[in-house]
Amino acid sequence: MSETLTLEVLRYNPEEHAEPVYQSYHVPYRKDWVILDALNHIKDNVDGTLTYRWSCRMGVCGSCGMMVNGVPTLTCATFLEASLPDPIRIAPLENFPVIRDLVTAMGDFMEKLKLAQPWIIRDREQPVADGEYRQTPVQLAAYKQYSMCINCLLCYSACPVYGLEPQFIGPAAIALAQRYNLDSRDEGRAQRDEVLSTEEGIWQCTLVGECSVVCPEHVDPAAAIQRYKVAATMDWFKALLMPWSRPQGSRD
Ligand code: SF4
Ligand code: FES
Repeated sequence: MSETLTLEVLRYNPEEHAEPVYQSYHVPYRKDWVILDALNHIKDNVDGTLTYRWSCRMGVCGSCGMMVNGVPTLTCATFLEASLPDPIRIAPLENFPVIRDLVTAMGDFMEKLKLAQPWIIRDREQPVADGEYRQTPVQLAAYKQYSMCINCLLCYSACPVYGLEPQFIGPAAIALAQRYNLDSRDEGRAQRDEVLSTEEGIWQCTLVGECSVVCPEHVDPAAAIQRYKVAATMDWFKALLMPWSRPQGSRD
């Protein structure tokens, strides 16, 4: 193994370039370096104009997602060694407009997140004097997996449906909606259904499953969407057979 390796990084400055072009950089090869360390080496020592997002460097903030050799990847959580042999190709996350170099625009996702209403909705708040809403460990376990999302957007980048039909609300937003639908304190499922049990919501998912494959937090958004589909179908039958009933917020 040589002491250096080559990173091919897609560069794009809309003020200067007609289209993105790959630029090669030689970086030291160190077994303890993740992809982000190599990019930081370039930024600090070779080319300060290279532009990309990162913050926590520990797989928590979700900001360092990029395509690595064509796969949506959290670059602070992936060793260089795992992407060999070189050259290792780094590009911005697919399915999002590129602002500059490896930085993509997240506005579409933020709008979809609002549509999913990922917060606790209640018909009536209990008075503060009545104390906090308590949950059993079993009630917590019902939604905890879906609460681990770090909004890294790797799942949107891997999703061919979102790539072809950008109006699709998409994996992470639906998984987060399901996180609240399954929360024993929440009563907002019917309200979320108005947006999510639609053609742009859960029914657009064709269960390719790549969202769950690339998710670094094992949220399994594909499973969240299929569970949502089952619950919505049951609601539809209940409404047909018992039109006086309505879905309750905290049931699966
Ligand atoms: S569901 Fe997983 S891949 Fe998608 S944004 Fe959340 S953490 Fe990232
Ligand atoms: S820098 Fe925060 S998740 Fe990678």
